[in-house]
Amino acid sequence: MNPFDFNSPITGQKYYNWKNIYPVPYDKATTSPYTKARVILMNGCETEQVFFLHQFSRNCPDNDLRRELAKIRRIEQQQQKLVQCLKPKNENILEETILYELLAVDLTAKLAKCEPDQYVKEALDFALLEDFDHLYRYANLMKLEYGNNAEYLVGKYTEIMPARPTIAHHRHPVDTIRRSTDSEAHTITKLHCNIITAAEQQTMNFYMNVCNLYPSDLGRRLYQEIGMVEEDHVTHYGSLLNTNLTLLENLVMHMYTGCYLYYSCLQSEDNPQAKCVWKECFYQEVANLKLSADLLEKYENKHWSCVISEGAFPELLNLGPNVEYVRDVLKNTVTCTCLKEDYCPVNLMPLDSNFFYYQSIVNSDLDCVPSHNVICDTINKFKIDYRYEKAPNPIVSLQARNVDNITLGRVPDSK
Ligand SMILES: [Fe+2]
Ligand SMILES: [Fe+2]
Ligand SMILES: [Fe+2]
Repeated sequence: MNPFDFNSPITGQKYYNWKNIYPVPYDKATTSPYTKARVILMNGCETEQVFFLHQFSRNCPDNDLRRELAKIRRIEQQQQKLVQCLKPKNENILEETILYELLAVDLTAKLAKCEPDQYVKEALDFALLEDFDHLYRYANLMKLEYGNNAEYLVGKYTEIMPARPTIAHHRHPVDTIRRSTDSEAHTITKLHCNIITAAEQQTMNFYMNVCNLYPSDLGRRLYQEIGMVEEDHVTHYGSLLNTNLTLLENLVMHMYTGCYLYYSCLQSEDNPQAKCVWKECFYQEVANLKLSADLLEKYENKHWSCVISEGAFPELLNLGPNVEYVRDVLKNTVTCTCLKEDYCPVNLMPLDSNFFYYQSIVNSDLDCVPSHNVICDTINKFKIDYRYEKAPNPIVSLQARNVDNITLGRVPDSK
């Protein structure tokens, strides 16, 4: 599929009324966790498009161009409204959170598996383990406060177990910037960087907005802590993006990413309501892609192929389980942290590095670290933590279920 050659049944702008902007939501009891994850992903993709278009407009002196951007943005905003309300009213904040982390785990693993650029793959593997640990922390909050086992939500497709402990994710900001990619990157690498940045940003925004709405102090504190890690993740992935694009080139990249994702969703969807939305949005996105490419021609005299060398989509994204892959990454990189643009096992980090300085401040009182408190409280209540494992944790020091390991990946020479 090459969206530049595709004859979309929608051309120009299709505006909705208040009836057709409100979709039939999915049934949370019968819908696959991956449909739920796709709804989160596409909501994140649209949110990124909307805010990118606002920033573009605020940095553009030409009102004729700003009117064209407003036309594109209005459609993107409609798409976001439509996609977001596929979520049902009865899905609560914590259930939604666990689905956010499921998406983070299985999207990241899927992208990493087919990522041709070794440095980008390492970046994906690195943050994968952290979102995998977040899933475990939130699942324990659910067990502790509601008595529910989160496996009912994630459909037994992913395991739930500790990984690099969340307490070790807190790095100094100077260690969060990666090297950017450039225009020579493969199309699939460009897509991966844009997709994962939008997805992690959606998670960051979600935690920023729901933190104060969560009904317990422990939960609010946990959203604060993990929200800070998501800020790190958005910086980490966002810094991989090509920094040399003009705003119009970047607009074409954004629309192309949207087309690729909607087409991927359409091909892998089994939920009929969601499938209808993906199809309609794909048609709209193609119309906006073509309009963006026309603007690039008109204002910069450039063809879209200077942004995406070939228009045909690479291998499509199909979300699914990645149990063995995640275990492998866990086994091989659990003690890694960041040293400027690179990764380094914590045992080899210089003792005067920014990592240890920052850790000594944010974790100065180990009894006040929410991601640790949630596991201790669960163990106090049930004698063991909550997990969903198909085999013992590949890291021996993470196997005990009556203690929370807070030194691994954080304190040199810890196991
Ligand atoms: Fe869109
Ligand atoms: Fe996360
Ligand atoms: Fe994340």
